[in-house]
Amino acid sequence: MAFLEMKNISKRFGDVQANRGICFAVERGEVHTLLGENGAGKTTLMNILYGLYAPDEGEIRLSGKPVNITSPHKAIELRIGMIHQHFMLIPNLSVAENIVLGLPSRRPPLLMRREAERGIGEISRKYQLDVDPKALICQLPVGTQQRVEILKALYRKIDLLILDEPTSVLTPLEVESLFKIIRRLIKDGLAVIFISHKLNEVMKISDRITVLKQGQLVGTKMAAETSASDLANMMVGKPVGLAGARNSPRIGRPLLQVRNISVTNRRSHKPILRNVSLEVREGEVLGIAGVDGNGQDELAEIIAGLRSGEEGEILIDGVDVTRSSPSRRINMGLAYIPSDRQRVGLILGLSVSENLILKTFKRPPFCVHGYFLHRQAMIANSEAMIKAFDIKVEKGMTKVVMLSGGNQQKVVLAREMTGKPLVLLAVQPTRGLDIGATKYVHQCILDHRERGGATLLISTELDEILALSDRVAVIYEGGIMGILAGGEGVDLEETSLMMAGAKKRESRGSTS
Ligand SMILES: Nc1ncnc2c1ncn2[C@@H]1O[C@H](COP(=O)(O)OP(=O)(O)O)[C@@H](O)[C@H]1O
Ligand SMILES: [Mg+2]
Repeated sequence: MAFLEMKNISKRFGDVQANRGICFAVERGEVHTLLGENGAGKTTLMNILYGLYAPDEGEIRLSGKPVNITSPHKAIELRIGMIHQHFMLIPNLSVAENIVLGLPSRRPPLLMRREAERGIGEISRKYQLDVDPKALICQLPVGTQQRVEILKALYRKIDLLILDEPTSVLTPLEVESLFKIIRRLIKDGLAVIFISHKLNEVMKISDRITVLKQGQLVGTKMAAETSASDLANMMVGKPVGLAGARNSPRIGRPLLQVRNISVTNRRSHKPILRNVSLEVREGEVLGIAGVDGNGQDELAEIIAGLRSGEEGEILIDGVDVTRSSPSRRINMGLAYIPSDRQRVGLILGLSVSENLILKTFKRPPFCVHGYFLHRQAMIANSEAMIKAFDIKVEKGMTKVVMLSGGNQQKVVLAREMTGKPLVLLAVQPTRGLDIGATKYVHQCILDHRERGGATLLISTELDEILALSDRVAVIYEGGIMGILAGGEGVDLEETSLMMAGAKKRESRGSTS
């Protein structure tokens, strides 16, 4: 009988099946890790355990007894604590005040505070948390604030602690000290659930690891009996091989050059991108493989001109655009499919017709006398696009927010691919799409390649990368671990190890 058992847990949000029949168990004295890419369903499963969501199906047992966790309050009563991805402390209160906040008070406030300060000091010493109960939260570094959250949970007397992506905000040194604390907790008989998508640290801290993918359980392994590359395979799934018949590329001049780009996080001073150099040529798809959160978004934003790097250069068709605006880059021939089409790629409150001319509305035929929007031209354009890109919508005046994810992505594609861009920057272009829409997006990328365009494809789906890319670069913690020849030449084992940061390969030059 396990200490905590979650059985056949399912949870759906609208169209998204966030958890599907998941079984998960933890013992006292154990660190059990939930591993999976962004969106795999880890937080949802833990929010269910912490009483924030009711599961659609399934059962939770504590020491064999079925429990009904209807609120975080109930969870704490059952001695379950959770530390969220985003801290929930009040900055201008002290450590002690934050910790007692929300506790029922049977004593006068002053006495309660003194008592709390004493109690907090004791726990802090016992687990070497090194927190001053009187300090103000806003004066503490992030790593210490996290230890306050841990203290807050321990002060409520818990047997099980859930840590949701606790290392994502920490420097490497802070991670080390967090791991020491976790080890003390399990030595003391607590059960710890640790959530992460970083393979190396998972291998370091876990006793057992459960991998989730797209809301489903892939498997549970003892850390001692698995490896980083095993886990990478479980996280990303098996490759499906090359997409259909594809001509060997007629590779020409470099259309996109990324030279020595470096960026540092202003707050944590951690490097986000380390000296990244890449080159994408005419008729070539360069895929960037990697586990989510290793600098991909930042790299895309720098290429698109939405963020500036501290060092390095970006060239489009040989022209330095490092200091050029996003619109100048568009005029130079850059098309951008962002990973977040609803926030960056589209204006949801505008119509399909309007979204289709976001890049071109200042130019003829849409703009008359440099001022008026030519409605007829806009409508004619959208009718042609809706047909050409098979966008399922009745009329162009429909607001984009009414469309399905796949059709929204087609609007982005239609807008970005007209005018025959030189360089396509596609980031997670099929995330959240069904199989039909995914195929459509893939075909668009291959058509662009066929026309001699350059494509930089950034995706966490290794299958997708392998199916479309002529070469594959692997990114890990902001650095390019190596560049592999694409298609059948890719060694999955080697790619997995590189994605896990466990192996590096010398670049074999920029083209094969
Ligand atoms: N409150 C919510 N409403 C709607 N969708 C949600 C909600 N919470 C999570 N989701 C969706 O459920 C899926 C799993 O999310 P999540 O559990 O946060 O994954 P992870 O923590 O592994 O990154 C995602 O597709 C996410 O968008
Ligand atoms: Mg999460």
